[in-house]
Amino acid sequence: MNNLPSHIAIIMDGNGRWAKGQGKSRTFGHEKGAETVRAITTYCSQHPEIKQLTLYAFSTENWKRPKLEVEFLMKLLERYFKKELNTYLEENIRFNPIGDLSAFSTSLQKTILNVSEATEHCTGLVQSLALNYGGKDEIIRAVQKLQNDNIPITESSLSETLDCTQEVDILIRTGGEHRISNFLLWQSAYAELFFTDTLWPEFKSDELETILTKFKKIERRFGGLN
Ligand code: IPE
Ligand code: IPE
Ligand code: MG
Repeated sequence: MNNLPSHIAIIMDGNGRWAKGQGKSRTFGHEKGAETVRAITTYCSQHPEIKQLTLYAFSTENWKRPKLEVEFLMKLLERYFKKELNTYLEENIRFNPIGDLSAFSTSLQKTILNVSEATEHCTGLVQSLALNYGGKDEIIRAVQKLQNDNIPITESSLSETLDCTQEVDILIRTGGEHRISNFLLWQSAYAELFFTDTLWPEFKSDELETILTKFKKIERRFGGLN
C-alpha cells in the first residue's frame, strides 16, 4: 500500500545564495522565493491527498539578520498576503499561521489574521506559514498554556495545544543544508526527511513530485516490524 503524503512541511532555504548567484541582492531572492511559495501551494492544492502544507517562512532566529533584510521580509509578507488573499479564496485554501505573531507590527498581525479569518470556511488544502516560529518556542508556549489551564501534560494534550497539531509525513529542506533549524521538532518525530541542493527559488513541482513518488514507496514502521 502506498503512503499518503497528508502533511508536507518545507524548510524553504537558499533564497539569498540564489540571488547572489544571479549577481543580485539577497532581497531579490526573497521575492523569487515568494513566487515559488505560490507555485508549490497551487500544486499541493490540486492534489487532494495532500491535506496540509506547512512552510517555514521566518524563524525565531531570523531576527538576528541585518535590520534591512528583516524589514524587507516584513514588507514582503505584508505585500504577499494582501495580493494573495484572492488566490487563497479561488483555490479554496485555508490559511493558518503558526508561530508567535505578537512580535510583528500591529499592521502585519492584522493583515495575517485577516487572511486567516477570510479563508476559515475554505475546505481544501490547509497552508500553514511558520512566522516567527521556533519548535522550542512552540513547545514552551504549549506547556505554559496547559499549566495555566491546569491540564495534565500528556502526549495528546501537548500535541493538541501546539500551533501545529498534525504530524508531519514529509519534511523537505531545500538549499543543501542537512539540518532542521528549529522547525516542527515535535511533529517531525516520524517524518520522512528529504534534503535537496536545489535553492528554494528554483524548486519546482516536478521535484516535489519525484519526492512524493519516493515517499510512497518507503516502508514506514513507526518502531514496529513490517
Ligand atoms: C530562506 O533563505 C528564507 C528565510 C530564512 C527567510 P535564506 O535567506 O536563508 O537564503 P540563504 O540560505 O542565505 O541562501
Ligand atoms: C531556516 O533557514 C529558516 C527558514 C527557512 C525560515 P535559515 O537559513 O535561517 O537556517 P540556518 O541559519 O541555515 O540554520
Ligand atoms: Mg538560509
